[in-house]
This record gives sequence, C-alpha cells and structure tokens, in this order.
Amino acid sequence: MGKLEGKVAVITGGSSGMALASAMRFVEEGAYVFITGRRQEAIDEAVRLIGRNVTGVRGDAANLDDLDRLFATVKREKGRIDILYASAGMGEAVPLGEITEQHFDAAFNLNARGTLFTVQKALPLFNDGGSIFMTGSVAALKGYPGYSVYAASKATLHAFARGWLNELKGRNIRVNVLHPGPIATPMQDKVLTPEAKQMFESAIPRGKMGRPEEIAAAALFLASDDSSFVNGLELSVDGGLSAI
Ligand SMILES: NC(=O)c1ccc[n+]([C@@H]2O[C@H](COP(=O)([O-])OP(=O)(O)OC[C@H]3O[C@@H](n4cnc5c(N)ncnc54)[C@H](OP(=O)(O)O)[C@@H]3O)[C@@H](O)[C@H]2O)c1
Repeated sequence: MGKLEGKVAVITGGSSGMALASAMRFVEEGAYVFITGRRQEAIDEAVRLIGRNVTGVRGDAANLDDLDRLFATVKREKGRIDILYASAGMGEAVPLGEITEQHFDAAFNLNARGTLFTVQKALPLFNDGGSIFMTGSVAALKGYPGYSVYAASKATLHAFARGWLNELKGRNIRVNVLHPGPIATPMQDKVLTPEAKQMFESAIPRGKMGRPEEIAAAALFLASDDSSFVNGLELSVDGGLSAI
C-alpha cells in the first residue's frame, strides 16, 4: 500500500521541475494529483509523463480568477483535497541599486500573494488532517547577492505557516515550508549563469546540485503521515548548503 493511497493532492507549478517529480512520486504512492502551470503544452507533456491519476489545469497561480477555476475543477472532479503543495514561484537576480517596482511586484505577486490566495482558496475543500506545504528557498535563509527581493518574498512563507497552522489547529491541518537548495531544473537553466552555477555548486558539500527526485522524496515526507508530528517546519533540502 502506498503512503498516499486514496489522497487527493493539488500541486501548483506541477508541470515542470521538482513539483513535477513530486507529482510523479505522489501518483506512484497512490494519490490523485491536480497539476497547474501557465503553458498548456508543458501541462500536456507532464500529464503524459505522469500517465494516470492526474488532471492538468492551466492557470497562473498569481491570478485569483485562475485559482477559482482550479479549485472549481478539483471540486467537480474529486470534491476534496488532502494535500496542497504550493510550488509555483519565480525569481531573478537584481542587485540593490537596480531593483525596480516591476521586479519587486513580480516576485511578491506570485511568491507571497499568489501562495497566500492559493492556500486560502483551497481551504473550503480541505479535509481535516490534511497537509499544506509551500516551496520556499534556501535563498530566504542566506544572503545571496542579487537575490534579496526573491529571498524576502520566500521568507514570507514561514510567517504565513506559523500563523495559519495556529488558526487551523482545530482542523488538524499541518502547514510547513520546504526550502530547496540549488536543484537542477529547467528554471535553473534559465536563470543561472555558468559562474553562478559554479558558485552554488562549490558551496554544496557534495559539490553537485540537487536533483528534482531528491526534493520529491522530501515532499512525500511532508505530504504523508510520516510527518504527522511535523508542523511549522522550515525543511531545508540543500545538501548542507545552508548549514555551513
Ligand atoms: N531550482 C532551484 O534551484 C530552486 C531553488 C529554490 C527554490 N526554488 C523554487 O522552486 C519552485 C519550482 O522551481 P523549479 O526550479 O522546479 O522550476 P521549473 O522547472 O521552471 O518549474 C516551474 C513550474 O512552475 C510553473 N509556474 C511558473 N510560474 C507560474 C505561475 N505564475 N503560475 C502557475 N505556475 C507557474 C511552470 O510552468 P509555466 O511556466 O508553464 O507556468 C513550471 O511548471 C519555485 O517556487 C522556485 O522559486 C527553485
């Protein structure tokens, strides 16, 4: 019997990278997953890769109407949610002195505001005893040049988690934050220069970036009853990068 047998999971940004690897793992463990993303062709390819027990819903996690459509689909198809993995996020490097309103608004609009409304709009469908977790970043725990706005937008998630788990205690819903370290995903390929990649790799004790499957293993832990007494945690999965 799988660790998520019969569970319904919603994974925003699940059409690529670590959230896609997690969606595949959740289905292997018996879950039904809803994945989202803005590009239909990426969703179609992800649905093909996952193969079964999956619905792809196109939408922007920063757009409240799209979130309403997502949860209306979940309600119609499954009627309830056990696991919410809010992973859609973005970040670009812009140093202090060059930060624009547009840069600030884009990061906070998706990473903070979008994540908040994703959780809030999921709640009416949530089963008591469910698990919510959100993708932060080790950037929120360190001081990487150029990443202050991204880091600040991701640091909001732990503050959200602490308040929400207290507000939700009567329903036994847990709220955690998963902080990936540098993980080799399509997003990394887009935003990291070879020099930045080398800088991050040299800071990881094993000298190599993480793999999406290594995040999926941690996501499975947070999603399943294996973490039944884990609540309000910031779980760094970064090969030790943030510890040294
Ligand atoms: N990779 C890393 O090293 C790293 C480290 C720490 C934290 N993170 C965080 O981890 C999360 C996933 O990153 P990843 O590296 O796995 O990225 P990825 O491979 O590029 O995947 C990102 C996924 O999110 C979707 N997405 C992006 N913006 C969205 C939006 N506004 N609404 C809905 N879906 C959206 C993308 O699809 P569309 O483009 O089609 O929308 C895609 O499915 C992000 O929150 C990121 O900040 C990444």
